[in-house]
Amino acid sequence: MDLMETIRRRRAIRKFKPDPVSTEKIDLMLEAARLAPSGVNSQPWKFKVVTDPALKEQVFLASKNQYHIKQAPVVIIVCGDTMSYSRTLKERFKELLNNGVLSQEDIHKMGLNLLTQDEEKELLKYKENAAFNTAIATEHIALAATSLGLGTCWIHLFDKERVAELLGLPSWIFPVTLLPVGYPEEMPEPKPRKPLSEILL
Ligand SMILES: Cc1cc2nc3c(=O)[nH]c(=O)nc-3n(C[C@H](O)[C@H](O)[C@H](O)COP(=O)(O)O)c2cc1C
Repeated sequence: MDLMETIRRRRAIRKFKPDPVSTEKIDLMLEAARLAPSGVNSQPWKFKVVTDPALKEQVFLASKNQYHIKQAPVVIIVCGDTMSYSRTLKERFKELLNNGVLSQEDIHKMGLNLLTQDEEKELLKYKENAAFNTAIATEHIALAATSLGLGTCWIHLFDKERVAELLGLPSWIFPVTLLPVGYPEEMPEPKPRKPLSEILL
């Protein structure tokens, strides 16, 4: 499918077939996200692919019961990662990992205790930047999904604190968007868009 056709065909899909999505297709969507551009090539994102029905149910409950979350066979949780903006902190954590002092999981669980209050505050300053950049990766996933015959729906209306808790995220990683993914059970009419004359300054 050519790019303009993919852009024209993409829709917010809110009804999914139960058919599973192959690992190959999930990997292709993640590859599209990985290749997204970001300011100073910071790549401030992390992705959690949820297929486990129990976890999906919890995410559904945290999304004000948006049923498409429950119905989709896969939900990709796109997160911002403010640590991408601190070279020194990243190096310090890498050292602990490489020396076998802590595992990735330990760092996620205890990370907060490894940061000084000032460092934590410093990272919070980058939250907006990280969220802005993750949006680009999210749309790469949505377009890749469309080109693979899949549907997605951006979901921003959800309890971010609850989802962070469900994933056991450290303070510097925060959920930005939920993206249910699956084979569409519907092809909605295109939503109206403003004409070019109205959006040109
Ligand atoms: C940042 C963002 C947040 C959105 N949040 C939600 C949401 O919480 N729930 C939902 O069902 N759709 C959500 N949508 C989907 C929009 O409603 C949809 O993209 C818009 O109506 C245009 O329709 P289209 O995507 O089919 O062109 C969101 C879309 C974006 C880009």
